[in-house]
Amino acid sequence: MDVTQRNIAVLISGRGSNLQAIIDATRDGHLDARIALVVSNRADADGLTRAQEAGIATLVRDHKAYATRDAYEAVLVEDLKARDVRLVCLAGFMRLLGATFVDAFQYRILNIHPALLPAFAGLHAQRQALEHGVKVSGATVHFVDTNLDAGPIVLQAAVPVLDTDTEDTLSARILEQEHRIYPEAIQRILDGRWTIEGRRVVFRN
Ligand code: GRF
Repeated sequence: MDVTQRNIAVLISGRGSNLQAIIDATRDGHLDARIALVVSNRADADGLTRAQEAGIATLVRDHKAYATRDAYEAVLVEDLKARDVRLVCLAGFMRLLGATFVDAFQYRILNIHPALLPAFAGLHAQRQALEHGVKVSGATVHFVDTNLDAGPIVLQAAVPVLDTDTEDTLSARILEQEHRIYPEAIQRILDGRWTIEGRRVVFRN
C-alpha cells in the first residue's frame, strides 16, 4: 500500500496528552500510521514541544490571523493536503470546524471527547457529568461533522463515576481511557474494514 495512505495529522490547542498517546502508539507498534504534521492554533500549546521532541513536523496556524472561519479552514485544508494527510485527528483542538474543512475530509476527521456521547457534548464534559449525577461516564472517539460532537461514533470506553470524584479525579480516569482508545480507533479506521450505515460505524472482521 502507498505509505501516504497511512499519513495522519493531529490538530491540537493545548497539553497534547492524546497526541503523546498517538506518538507512543506509532512507536511501540500498536498504530501503523505516520504523523505527517501536528497543527496547533496556539503557539504556546505544550503539545508542540511533544511533537518536536518526537521529530514530527509542526505548524502553528492562529485562527485570529484570518478574517473568517472559512478563510482559516481553507488554509488548514491546503496545509494538510500538501502533506498527503489522509486522516485528521483532533486532539483537544478547541475550534469548531465548518463545511469548508469537513467537506474536504469527509469521514476522514476523528475527534476524542471526554464523555459518553451523545451525553455531555461541548465544553467541560466531565463537570457536566458530575453535576448531572451520572454513575458512569467515559470517552468517545467519533467522526466529525459540522455539528458539535455529533458525528458517527467509532469507539467508546466507560468508567465509573465515584461519589468521591472531583472534576480532576474523574478527568484523570477518563483520560486514561482516551489514551487507550484513540490510537486503537485510528488504527481501525485506517485499516478500512468499516462502513457507515445510517449513523452507525460498522466494523467487519
Ligand atoms: C481531552 O480530554 C479530550 O477528550 C478533549 O480535550 C482534552 C485534550 O487533552 N477533547 P490533551 O490536550 O490531549 O491532553
